[in-house]
Amino acid sequence: MEGLADGDRLDPVQQSFVDAGAVQCGFCTPGLVVAAHDLLSRVDRPSDAEIREALAGNLCRCTGYEKILDAVRMAANGGVA
Ligand code: FES
Repeated sequence: MEGLADGDRLDPVQQSFVDAGAVQCGFCTPGLVVAAHDLLSRVDRPSDAEIREALAGNLCRCTGYEKILDAVRMAANGGVA
């Protein structure tokens, strides 16, 4: 997770999670960010089904997942919601 950032500058996927409000307690965030980063390294514009499949197995007790999906969509869209 820390290796994705460039010094103090967050990776675009990390920044999208922050900007979309997809981080609450943060317990699930490392696994979700790494899974999303892997997905976006393979698929430029993933469908919602592809995003859900890539993130499957990462459980979040806080967000209800919609903001997480928003964050991945945002990251795939160059940081734009
Ligand atoms: S943000 Fe708390 S478990 Fe996901």
